[in-house]
Amino acid sequence: SPSEPIRLEDRIRDIQDFPQKGVLFKDITPLLQDAAAFRAAMDRMAAHYAGAGIEVVVGVESRGFIFGAPLAYLLNCGFVPVRKFGKLPSETVSVEYALEYGTNIVEVHKDAIKPGQRVLIVDDLLATGGTVSAAMELVEKLGGHIAGIAFLVELSFLKGREHLKGHDVFALIKY
Ligand code: PRP
Ligand code: HPA
Repeated sequence: SPSEPIRLEDRIRDIQDFPQKGVLFKDITPLLQDAAAFRAAMDRMAAHYAGAGIEVVVGVESRGFIFGAPLAYLLNCGFVPVRKFGKLPSETVSVEYALEYGTNIVEVHKDAIKPGQRVLIVDDLLATGGTVSAAMELVEKLGGHIAGIAFLVELSFLKGREHLKGHDVFALIKY
């Protein structure tokens, strides 16, 4: 019926052995292309942080931008991109980290976050936690206060949450 709540997990697709053998990849593109599901996901994320006093939303390139920017809009906050190495034009701080597959360097502009600002870090998916830990390190280097960490999907069996102890971690969908 039209009044039934949207089941977001029905819009996540499993891809076996992507991007390499042994990885069961959760594909979020079916959710993104479904207008009602994408809207419901953003509205539910925003509702979770209503009244939390978030001042800045940080999104992690690339898929963190897809959720971070609309969340910043809904929370009436600015948006700060954490980008892969070499993409940001002004002065940066950087961190190298290990991924579920491969390694990476991420950067943020030095003037993007003011000391003490309440920051919400957003990404599409929590796997090992390596990516979001790097983003947290960048925020902390700039003196930001990590007020929350939000994901569309959490792969609980990879225990990424254990790297995020002491922080408010929220995921709309858990596997
Ligand atoms: C993916 C995903 C998360 C991260 C999760 O990004 O979007 O950022 O990996 O893995 P982790 O918890 O083990 O770090 P990816 O590096 O594939 O880049 P993309 O967003 O540009 O596709
Ligand atoms: N699915 C989607 N994105 C990812 C995954 C995954 O299993 N692991 C790291 N990023």
